Amino acid sequence: METAPSRLAYQGEVLAPPEKTAAYEDAVRQLDSILAGESHMILKMATINCVLREALPYYFWVGFYLAHDGELVVGPYQGTLGCLHISYDRGVCGAAARTGSVQIVPDVEQFPGHIACDSNSRSEICVPVHDAAGRLIAVFDVDSTKVDSFDAIDEAFLTRIMTRHFSR
Ligand code: SME
Repeated sequence: METAPSRLAYQGEVLAPPEKTAAYEDAVRQLDSILAGESHMILKMATINCVLREALPYYFWVGFYLAHDGELVVGPYQGTLGCLHISYDRGVCGAAARTGSVQIVPDVEQFPGHIACDSNSRSEICVPVHDAAGRLIAVFDVDSTKVDSFDAIDEAFLTRIMTRHFSR
């Protein structure tokens, strides 16, 4: 009997816009159902990482950096070893925390101050995460091993997911 290939294996494949949209729509539906009624922050972060990484084959590293004592500290993630501490004045994550806006970096080698936790990462998106009072609680970060993996589709869905699960 043939066994299905593990979806946990990293495939690296960047999806075309219709497939990417469909994968996010599926992930949004799963998350809405799995996280209905849940309020624990770490539970939600760990589950969002898992569902998105299974749905999007180009997610090489996915996780949350938590706003803690004036810096970002690594929280729930999936992937290779992440940097433990990131100050607000450094890196793509620091820029997202400082500006409160989504950062899309098509080629990390062109981003001054990019922090390379893993040299295989080539492009990245960072989404600030706020609580219902509008306070920054975390930065959600995704890395891909291919340049130019993230676009307005990732930004729209990830912003929607973060708002839905942490800001209300
Ligand atoms: N590249 C990020 C650091 C976090 S890792 O990618 C997991 C940055 O420049 O902030």
